[in-house]
Amino acid sequence: MSEMKFENTEEQKVFQEVFNELPELIKGKCKGYDELYGYKLNFKDEDQQIVEKYYDEEIAKHLIYKVCKAFQFNKDHVTQRIVDVLNWRREFNPLSAAFLEKHDPELEEVGVITQYPEESPNKQVVTWNLYGQLVKKKELFKDTNKFIRYRIGLMEKGLRLLQFDSIGNNYMTQVHDYNGVSVFRMDGNIKKCTKQVISIFQQYYPELLWAKYFVNVPVVFSWVYGVVKQFVDEQTMSKFVVLSDGKKLNQYLKSAPKDYGGQNQKLKEQNIQDMRPTKYGLYLLEKQNNEDVD
Ligand code: HEM
Repeated sequence: MSEMKFENTEEQKVFQEVFNELPELIKGKCKGYDELYGYKLNFKDEDQQIVEKYYDEEIAKHLIYKVCKAFQFNKDHVTQRIVDVLNWRREFNPLSAAFLEKHDPELEEVGVITQYPEESPNKQVVTWNLYGQLVKKKELFKDTNKFIRYRIGLMEKGLRLLQFDSIGNNYMTQVHDYNGVSVFRMDGNIKKCTKQVISIFQQYYPELLWAKYFVNVPVVFSWVYGVVKQFVDEQTMSKFVVLSDGKKLNQYLKSAPKDYGGQNQKLKEQNIQDMRPTKYGLYLLEKQNNEDVD
């Protein structure tokens, strides 16, 4: 189990206050929606049986701690962000994007999730986006919403493999593989999708990314990095590494698959596909389903 580290008593006080005020916040400002990454946050639900069945205090505390850390224990910012995240989840329904909806098979094809239990801290769970393969499939970016639901679905599936109450596995690592990108103009639709996904990650998934590798990026495309980085905050940028040679990825990720310079099997053979929602996530999805039928 990990310890939550506080720099001073003030930080601890803010955390405790935010945590204690959750039931009120959820009821008053989130229309009762209390799910974060599949876990329940409200410990004073009207139906106490639901709390007994699904609530895990340790995990709930670690999730709130993450938000506190992301916003430097500034109580107003932390509170506002929790409200924003929960309301976004209530409306967007990321659990449905991950566990119910079918996405375009051509998109599914370029998303991979791997898990390396022996890897260094916070590089155990890696999500891969083989975006280079999409360079000639511009139509996949035409419907921004469809693309985003696919991408958020992949993110949520990856989150299932994190252990929020552990030290070494409560962040994820991501890889973008741009292999195949030769002649490339920043298509308007690609840019729109990119911008929106970046914005959603920054607003609604705080303190979850450990490192992000951009591999097989031809040197002539460094300008794209310049364009995209305008949308990204500095803190996130500091986690990025660009590698023109994808086979060097194993220098950063020693468990990397064969196709990335490692000893392991090939990437596609490592893909974890049968991801299930959490118990609470499943309960919510089933409940929504019943409401739809009614
Ligand atoms: C982010 C697609 C080319 C650098 C993204 C995102 C998408 C995307 C959808 C949103 C974040 C995510 O999904 O994780 C594409 C496509 C490309 C392309 C389809 C061409 C086929 C490039 C190139 C570079 C680049 C050549 C140069 C290094 C970046 C960076 C981000 C990004 C720095 C921000 C990542 C983040 O904030 O997490 N790209 N991209 N992209 N892309 Fe690309």
